[in-house]
Amino acid sequence: MTTDTMDLDIVAELAALRAQVARLTAKDEICDLVTTYARSCDVGNDPVLLRPLFTDDATWTCKGFGTFHGGGDGCALGLKAVAGEKIWWSLHNMISVQITFDASGEEATGFWYLWEAATIPNEHTGEAEACWIGGTYDARFRRDGGTWKFSAIELKLNMASSYSEGWVKKRWPDGTPSQPYFLDLKPGETYLWRQGGREGSRLVTEAEAAESPKKVTAFTVAEPGLQAICGCGYSKSKPFCDGSHLNLKYDWSLLGKSAPDQTGPGDTA
Ligand code: FES
Repeated sequence: MTTDTMDLDIVAELAALRAQVARLTAKDEICDLVTTYARSCDVGNDPVLLRPLFTDDATWTCKGFGTFHGGGDGCALGLKAVAGEKIWWSLHNMISVQITFDASGEEATGFWYLWEAATIPNEHTGEAEACWIGGTYDARFRRDGGTWKFSAIELKLNMASSYSEGWVKKRWPDGTPSQPYFLDLKPGETYLWRQGGREGSRLVTEAEAAESPKKVTAFTVAEPGLQAICGCGYSKSKPFCDGSHLNLKYDWSLLGKSAPDQTGPGDTA
């Protein structure tokens, strides 16, 4: 090997090392960005802290919480509103962050898990309730003026479970149509169950049943005692819960007055 060839090898090796250090440095900066985002969320989604973390065209979305556009301003203000209405306190744990860089090295995609202890208002009483929230994040990052920022964040919720009951009994908060109703039913009586509607699937009165008779099932029970009645509308053993609700995605918009019509698969008006 000549001296010239050795020099060329060293130059190539140095270039590769430089590229690797640059990638590791960028990854470290992006992980810092994720941590800064978590810390900003844990002080009530502070818009002053959140705003500079996003590019001017950034979006933030989570089914149920909403989609926010308008870069740092839009995302920060949207998140601030979420904190005021739905999350009163939180401790975000961002776990197992994975970063993949585009060929340019100026953009990247990311994935990580969310495991969050939170205080949310109880749907019925409005009182503070301890809750575990779990999900995953998908994000895009862009280097903007030498600083890594979020250009898009999508949070996919997997559970928001009451701390006192746990996710086996209650994967989602009370009051959502994706939960069964546990009712003490009597043999010999005829009950009317209606699928879908603004309040989810539930037992209805004769007058309510008359409003949408095609959606109503009349049934009796053979034995006295508690029965799990489907509230999600997706049971294959309607009107009884068969656990199908456990496979549904949580949708915060199902709560409250703005709840959309919920229709089970194959159901007609
Ligand atoms: S609530 Fe359990 S299947 Fe519908």
